Amino acid sequence: QVPFVQAPFLAPYATGIDAADGLPVNYYKLTEKAATAQILPRLTTPILGYNGLFPGPTISLDQGTKAVLRIRNQLPATHPLDGHALSTSTHLHGSASLPQYDGYASDVTNPGFYKDYRYPNFQPARTLWYHDHGVHFTAQNAYSGLAAQYHMHDPIERQLLPQGRYDVALTVSDAMFAENGSLGYDDNTHSGLWGDVILVNGRPWPVMKVQKRVYRFRILNCSISRSLRPTLSTGAPLIMVGTDGGLMPAAQSVANYRHGGAERYEVLIDFRKYATGQRIELRNLSNKNNVDYDFTNKIMAFDVTDEPVDTTDPTWNRIPTTLVGSEAMSLKSAQAVKTRRFRVKRNDVTNMWTINDDSWQDVIASGYKKVIADPAHNSVEIWEIENSSGGWFHPVHIHLVDFQILSRNGAAAFAHERGPKDVVYVGEGETVRLLMKFTPQQGLYMMHCHNLPHEDHDMMAQFRVGLKES
Ligand code: C2O
Ligand code: CU
Repeated sequence: QVPFVQAPFLAPYATGIDAADGLPVNYYKLTEKAATAQILPRLTTPILGYNGLFPGPTISLDQGTKAVLRIRNQLPATHPLDGHALSTSTHLHGSASLPQYDGYASDVTNPGFYKDYRYPNFQPARTLWYHDHGVHFTAQNAYSGLAAQYHMHDPIERQLLPQGRYDVALTVSDAMFAENGSLGYDDNTHSGLWGDVILVNGRPWPVMKVQKRVYRFRILNCSISRSLRPTLSTGAPLIMVGTDGGLMPAAQSVANYRHGGAERYEVLIDFRKYATGQRIELRNLSNKNNVDYDFTNKIMAFDVTDEPVDTTDPTWNRIPTTLVGSEAMSLKSAQAVKTRRFRVKRNDVTNMWTINDDSWQDVIASGYKKVIADPAHNSVEIWEIENSSGGWFHPVHIHLVDFQILSRNGAAAFAHERGPKDVVYVGEGETVRLLMKFTPQQGLYMMHCHNLPHEDHDMMAQFRVGLKES
């Protein structure tokens, strides 16, 4: 068995004070480059990675500390496998970044150049992630390795939930490999890629040793298409404490849950009651319209050890029931000044994916003028998304905002998604209603499907917050 390895943490190379507002700033240097990774036994896999790592290094910082990421593109001019130009744009998914630092798809940095991305980090504690968002090749680039977690802490979260080695990033993805160890990418129909190998932090089906205590796992589904349905082999519940935008108002115990691409869920697993030597598997039940293989029903395993537990750490046995209300979760429908409707589907003539019959091609053709919505700055709106695309599910991501899921097909949101979100799983035949406030930034932002081959072909639109053109 492959040992579980936590993604390495990236320490800032410098810290300072922003002269404009007196806030602390951390500086990080990341280089996008071609490298090889040891993923499979006896074979090496060519990858593209931040600092050559698959996945990239985790960034960890506190709310109120700003960050500057200098992302140097030292990739080859073209992708070694399919030859597309390796121009990149980095998106910090979950951050209310200014538009010029938001990884706008067409705002690319070419090989040989760098860009400094400035992140405000004023939001409550949450699990973010950064990934490539280069126009039309996000899927291949993220699949090749350009993705990593980014953790923001705050005092409430530090007090309530496990920290340090008990706060574990699990970046889950699927992949397929050629006989020589290189990553296979096979998506002729633009419908998605489903690999037969499940990776956690770039390792196939790893095993992690755990103490008899409560652990916190930040599970990111980094698959470019596959959705997951995690569950424990013992039948014990997963205790959901956080969603994309941070802590939930109340913890939710779930036997399993549907986890689409780009969604982050923070779960507690209580290992106190297990025997030394016991192995507990994190399994994957199937969802509709994925392609399952022999071992895609398993994610990883935990081996319980008798390593002594530090019971002076109050989080060792704490299972909080109430956590914290967030701005998104305290919004009320009555505050909404507008309801907008979006329908997502495939154009069967062009094989392109559309939102309200438009695609990113239409945005490009309009000279980036075309917007799908123009909410006023600081306004609250309801966005209703209808999936009438037949046998497809779409994890839809809206940049800038945290939203609350008001309903799904008229019924309440699932227990596990009753927290602040920025991606919503719009399953087959589903209609979801979302409530959100367009704050604090103004400008152009994207919304798109996070099944990345759908995004690239061309299920992406832009909306403009405030800044009305006269
Ligand atoms: Cu995670 Cu627009 O992306
Ligand atoms: Cu989609």
